[in-house]
Amino acid sequence: MDNLKEKLKVLYEKDEIQKRIQEIANEIDKDYKGKEVLVISVLKGAIFFTVDLVMKMKTPIMLETIQVSSYEGTQSTGNIIMKKGLDSDISGKDVLIVEDIIDTGYTLKYLKEYLQSLNPNSIKIAVLADKKERRKIDVKVDYTCFEIENKFVVGYGFDVDERGRNIPFIGYLE
Ligand code: IMP
Ligand code: MG
Repeated sequence: MDNLKEKLKVLYEKDEIQKRIQEIANEIDKDYKGKEVLVISVLKGAIFFTVDLVMKMKTPIMLETIQVSSYEGTQSTGNIIMKKGLDSDISGKDVLIVEDIIDTGYTLKYLKEYLQSLNPNSIKIAVLADKKERRKIDVKVDYTCFEIENKFVVGYGFDVDERGRNIPFIGYLE
């Protein structure tokens, strides 16, 4: 096995990530005061961010997961397939989609439209990273931890063909 971790350039260290997630958690707490949030974590990459985010929030939550796929290797396509749907009814709920990264925007656009069709009370989006310059389709993101350059990131949930998710920092491949 070659060592992926050694090949990465560090973009955000573990502590910086946690500090930024705390700021976002505080914003979410302010915005949802007195409400309960139905967090929908987008498998698999966002698991890591989701756990750290909800543990830092004071707002009560319910947790759901959904899995879609649009990616092969490092190339994004507009073809989204639903791999795992929701387990419960989200109608009337205040939904927060938690995703690892927004790149072209196709994934979140698809997810938001799909979830909207299930009649929640509200939908907001939180992402760990935003590659703004790569956007192909407009999607409103409500909470962004880091705006990043057009680099392929790995670690803290991000993978290269399923590897590297548990690397504790966010790095990139050159
Ligand atoms: P979009 O549909 O192009 O916005 O792509 C979003 C999805 O592509 C994310 O859910 C990620 O799984 C994946 N993705 C995009 N950029 C990266 C990256 O730099 N590293 C790892 N996965 C990425
Ligand atoms: Mg993903």
